Amino acid sequence: MMDWTDRHCRYFLRLMSKHIRLYTEMLSTQALIHGDTDKLLGHCSTEHPLALQLGGCNPKEMAICSQMAEDWGYQEVNINAGCPSSRVQQGRFGACLLNEPNLVAECINNMQQRCALPITVKTRIGLDEQDSFDFLHRFIERVSQAGCQLFILHARKAWLQGLSPKENREIPPLDYNRVYAIKQAFPKFTIVLNGGICSLSQVKNHCQKVDGVMLGRAAYHNPFLLSQVDQQLFGVATPEKSRLEIVENMISYLQNQCKQGIPLKAMTRHMMGLFQAQPGARTWRRFLSNDPNLTPRRLLNLAQTLTARAKQHVASCSL
Ligand SMILES: Cc1cc2nc3c(=O)[nH]c(=O)nc-3n(C[C@H](O)[C@H](O)[C@H](O)COP(=O)(O)O)c2cc1C
Repeated sequence: MMDWTDRHCRYFLRLMSKHIRLYTEMLSTQALIHGDTDKLLGHCSTEHPLALQLGGCNPKEMAICSQMAEDWGYQEVNINAGCPSSRVQQGRFGACLLNEPNLVAECINNMQQRCALPITVKTRIGLDEQDSFDFLHRFIERVSQAGCQLFILHARKAWLQGLSPKENREIPPLDYNRVYAIKQAFPKFTIVLNGGICSLSQVKNHCQKVDGVMLGRAAYHNPFLLSQVDQQLFGVATPEKSRLEIVENMISYLQNQCKQGIPLKAMTRHMMGLFQAQPGARTWRRFLSNDPNLTPRRLLNLAQTLTARAKQHVASCSL
């Protein structure tokens, strides 16, 4: 998610679950080819499994960037065919690509020639007036002929005119049945459902009908949700970490990154939701966003205080 799932955010989220697949923000091919590659693609191997999401539509450029993804150690390249922003529309990629399955297929062909990673597509279930099952079916059929076998479907259509990207994540109604129907039509492909999911019980329900679920805003705003995923969804008996342990694990990372010149707040802003719905959540958020004397050590102290307070709260409730 742009401006959200940068490397610091991903490092933090990975502490919650070893098995979820993380995705980068959408990176445009232009930025990757002409920009600061180290800054854009650099990451920690602990973030793996990690997919690089590309925004672009020029087959040659998409191929170059896919090779970069492989060289930099990513595990998947994902094509963004769902973003409706006007800047992206001007570049003729994102959600517009739903109208251009042949071009997406050509991109995939070129990408596969230069890179051995799986190429996947994230898209919407429709675009403007084009929102029939057949429209989406034709897109998936054509794109899969080029070799894409994993589709992430945001279960809403996108309106290219008149709605902002934020409104495009809220106003078009969710249609999970459309995604289930696609899975039935293409049983061999991996179909991942996205949109509006905010609890693990919802994830489990959807997983009876599709192969996986992608969480966006819920994972960002309530990251601790992910701490039960390995146990509950992947069936791995790793002990769940506490919020305090997550903060403890972040400290050396924060200190190291600060030494390399990264401002502390550029990293801690992603930790704002850690105490979501816990006693002291507001104190935590306020401290992270406003305190001029924020340091990793003080962050840890506050996490210890909030944890002790939460324990007292639980103890007094059970008396
Ligand atoms: C701030 C923000 C940035 C986003 N950036 C991207 C992006 O770069 N690429 C993408 O495929 N989707 C992006 N999305 C959309 C989400 O991936 C997701 O499809 C959408 O929010 C619906 O899922 P959710 O209800 O679980 O959040 C973004 C969403 C938000 C809130």
